[in-house]
Amino acid sequence: MSEIAKIELGGTTYEFPVIEGTENEKAIDISNLRAATGYVTLDTGYKNTGATTSAITFLDGEEGILKYRGYPIEELAEKATFIEVAYLLIYGNLPTVTELETFRSNITKHTLVHEDMKQFFEAYPAKAHPMGVLSSMVCSLSTFYPESLDPNRSPEAKDLTILRLLAKLPTLAAWAYKNSTRHPFMYPKNEFDYCKNFLYMMFAMPTEEFKVDPVVVDALNKLFILHADHEQNCSTSTVRIVGSSQANLYASISAGISALWGPLHGGANQEVIEMLEKIHADGGDVDKWVLKAKDKEDSFRLMGFGHRVYKNFDPRAKIIKKACDDILTKLGVNDPLLAIAKKLEQVALEDEYFKARNLYPNVDFYSGIIYKALGIPTEMFTVMFAIGRLPGWIAQWKEMTENKEPIGRPRQIYTGVVLRQYVPIEKR
Ligand code: SDX
Repeated sequence: MSEIAKIELGGTTYEFPVIEGTENEKAIDISNLRAATGYVTLDTGYKNTGATTSAITFLDGEEGILKYRGYPIEELAEKATFIEVAYLLIYGNLPTVTELETFRSNITKHTLVHEDMKQFFEAYPAKAHPMGVLSSMVCSLSTFYPESLDPNRSPEAKDLTILRLLAKLPTLAAWAYKNSTRHPFMYPKNEFDYCKNFLYMMFAMPTEEFKVDPVVVDALNKLFILHADHEQNCSTSTVRIVGSSQANLYASISAGISALWGPLHGGANQEVIEMLEKIHADGGDVDKWVLKAKDKEDSFRLMGFGHRVYKNFDPRAKIIKKACDDILTKLGVNDPLLAIAKKLEQVALEDEYFKARNLYPNVDFYSGIIYKALGIPTEMFTVMFAIGRLPGWIAQWKEMTENKEPIGRPRQIYTGVVLRQYVPIEKR
């Protein structure tokens, strides 16, 4: 017998069904609430509200569990390639040898962007933040592929648009960086895998042979996997709601990139490094900065700490922290910011303020230290997050379109002036 939720309003008892997911999560289905009672619910920031059902990613914030299509993140980060995980998220299963080879070669075929797009880059100032460039460039892709404007044109057309976006995002990202340095753009090389190709386009110069430590390529592969999806976070919810109006994939992902840019979301990885550099420059007095983070009168927050849903360790942060030690040791990098980050974490985790609020390091706390060791410039950190999150955004958009979900349209409670008559300006 399935559970029923009862709400008593104005002396009447209303009953609503309870649904249960495959991981025993429960929700009160209020699809009929307003029609039955005239009431809506209010949940600013959707902290208690499920926007959809999804078979892509499961996370348990209390237990610190994260699984993509049922595979624990720890296993995928250790054993899989990013392109394999992209296929898993988007198409639902790990690919066979043939499926992976086809997927990989199809992506390789689409890594070039239309030559006309180069002029767009040249119009940006060198100081342009790459997230602003990337969001615009991704939306501009829709102007070169008008057949993508109808997201439901055909499954083949949808797959082609997905391939084009997966293939071109690293090219657009690397060219945004090259444009900021005013260095020559490097074209993708078909013989390189996804991560190595991105590093080539970022750091190669036409005047010299490109060499990259396999440790760096492996680190990037792991970081991209760890960022690949995270169920209904701010940017993914943005992608879904933009896509729910039947806007095309490029426009939906462009909106997701903009949402990710915020310092409370994906922009936090850049903020963490800038915070650690500030603490380092200030003499490394960690206790002083932890006090500032606790002070309600001080706007300073411990960036990379806390999470909307993880009220335990973010499992990705654990993996990244270990990878940080391994990679910096292998690369022979001795970054004083790592020592400050570890001290900050230790002090915060022992502090009652953070413990009482279940504030732990999140995915952004250590990732910036690795990106810095890989030679990625700070302003490109959130771009790295976007490249990693792209398969998840695509998978969630695809699931939403295939489930034919209705256009997203939340309700509100009006609190403004009830009625006024127009007064001509001379009489105001
Ligand atoms: C990501 O949702 C996802 O899945 C996101 C993400 C993904 O993969 O897509 O995991 C990626 O965005 C990770 C989060 C990156 N952001 C940061 O590191 C920015 C710093 N953290 C915060 O601003 C904050 O923790 C949030 C935004 C992440 C979560 O905010 P919540 O859940 O809305 O919590 P809150 O702001 O209501 O804070 C609850 C309390 C408050 O204190 P009180 O009012 O109860 O006294 O905790 C305090 C906050 O002041 N608090 C912090 C803090 N984070 C929360 N105090 C100091 N430093 C912090 N970092």
